[in-house]
Amino acid sequence: MSLVLVMTVAIFAACAKNPGQSTGSDKPAASTEKPDAGKKIKIGLSMDTLKEERWQRDRDLFIAKAEELGAEVIVQSANGDDNLQVSQAENLITQGVDILVVVPHNGEIAASIVDAAHKEGIKVIAYDRLIKNSDVDLYVSFDNVKVGELQAEYAVKQVPKGNYMLIGGAPTDNNAKLFREGQMNILQPLIDKGDIKIVGDQWAKDWQPEEALKHTENALTANNNKIDVVVASNDGTAGGAIQALAEQKLDGKVLVTGQDAELAAVQRIVEGKQAMTVYKPIKAIASKAAELAVAMAKGEKIETNNKVNNGKIDVPSVLLEPIQVDKNNMLDTVIKDGFHKLEDVYKNVPKDQWPQQK
Ligand code: GAL
Repeated sequence: MSLVLVMTVAIFAACAKNPGQSTGSDKPAASTEKPDAGKKIKIGLSMDTLKEERWQRDRDLFIAKAEELGAEVIVQSANGDDNLQVSQAENLITQGVDILVVVPHNGEIAASIVDAAHKEGIKVIAYDRLIKNSDVDLYVSFDNVKVGELQAEYAVKQVPKGNYMLIGGAPTDNNAKLFREGQMNILQPLIDKGDIKIVGDQWAKDWQPEEALKHTENALTANNNKIDVVVASNDGTAGGAIQALAEQKLDGKVLVTGQDAELAAVQRIVEGKQAMTVYKPIKAIASKAAELAVAMAKGEKIETNNKVNNGKIDVPSVLLEPIQVDKNNMLDTVIKDGFHKLEDVYKNVPKDQWPQQK
């Protein structure tokens, strides 16, 4: 390494400790090089939102793992605003991050983030949600089609015939489409047979529970309250649907699915108001993504177990397994993993009905 380059790297190593010192004109000369072994890796984490409980956990666990590996993380959250997410990502690039990890609000629009990062020689990892039609370098997520299948499988096992309402997530989120694909893999043959009738089919903008509430109210009115199952794609929208059902005293009588094992949802499950959720161990995805981010930033070769087409390329992918959870396996999954504490989950259940923790 030439003396000039050594000095440049040394200067950037010093700047890296104080991100405030990086300015637009202060272009990181080292970013197109493999980071020097002595330099602290800087990871930019660009998040759509921190609204749902899970994302705060993702952020905290990602930072914890990255720091354990000696890296530093700069987090930006865009509150569901595409323009803001793009400008925040540009800002992270300007700050000289070695790698960018993105949870896109809009899987199509985020392609421009990949282009901007690549211009500066920075690799991009799509976290949980795929970035479509781009040369994104890696995708780390759960098997999202399987998530939808687990939701619908649970429902059809309990209610093999009847009126089903579907509540999809944000139409801008590629995951929302994959959840629906999985749900339909299970439901379509039963619809074709005439056992299941879809009496409502809606999507909740930005995954808003209020949207799910409104859609469920309308579907109940249109069907004289004759709905047997609400296939809600996540716990937030399940909460909205259950609120609408409660207005008609139907909560606990209509089977409602969910996803994320949010505290409010697992409480509803043990109280009998929500049937199930899909638990995705966030520690696993956050740690895996942090490990891979550090390795990629160091220029190491990455091992992946999958490829997912994003409309442009087959993206090397790591897909983790989601887990079906209802009141029967709550103890052995969510609680055993330390995702939630027994006393929090069963807070509203009389203590003599709590399960025994071994
Ligand atoms: C999805 C994610 C879900 C859920 C939802 C709303 O993309 O996979 O776990 O949290 O967004 O944020």
